[in-house]
Amino acid sequence: MKFFIDTANIDQIREAHDLGILDGVTTNPSLMAKEGIRGEEKIMSHYVSICELVGKNVSAEVIATEFNEIVTEGKKLAELHPAIVVKVPMVKDGVKALKWFSDNGIKTNCTLVFSAGQALLAAKAGANFVSPFIGRIDDANWDGVLLIEQIVHIYGNYGYRTEVLAASIRNPLHIVKCAEAGADVCTCPLESILGLLKHPLTDIGLEKFLSDHRKGQQ
Ligand code: E4P
Repeated sequence: MKFFIDTANIDQIREAHDLGILDGVTTNPSLMAKEGIRGEEKIMSHYVSICELVGKNVSAEVIATEFNEIVTEGKKLAELHPAIVVKVPMVKDGVKALKWFSDNGIKTNCTLVFSAGQALLAAKAGANFVSPFIGRIDDANWDGVLLIEQIVHIYGNYGYRTEVLAASIRNPLHIVKCAEAGADVCTCPLESILGLLKHPLTDIGLEKFLSDHRKGQQ
């Protein structure tokens, strides 16, 4: 499973990248605003900084929702760096734009996906990634991981090459459950990635090994 980090914070992206396990980054307009990145020039240069740091799979989301505008904006984003993946919302014109980008060699990530039907459309349109938001589904009292299982199953039935990118991850267990369900990618906050490290028996075991080693040195 690929690991993406779900943030526009350069320090957090660098920390995950330095761990050596990072395969990409997802951003969205809310995450960019959270970092105080506003105005087209700053937004574009921030995407370039992320691409230069990580080198692959950097999702940059369009703001447009109308076909021609999505295509214009997506082309501009794609020209920034070869690592850019144009993130397109699951709306009617978005599906049409996914097909256009696919026909014109521009990589895409279909975002705001909450059902298997939407995921089916994204795959038909040739999206490279589909992003079901599992945390938001859980927040609405449904089961986000079940949706991942359903999409993985459907894509397997037909050999769709669209990668299932589990998004809106809230905790380390979400990551493990998505891996069990066969997600191709998980995009996670840094905290959830680092949460995978934790086990009290590891801490206890390490402390014991180190104290026994110290005793052996006396
Ligand atoms: C995915 O690409 C989105 O940026 C993200 O995972 C949304 O997560 P949230 O529900 O925590 O906002």
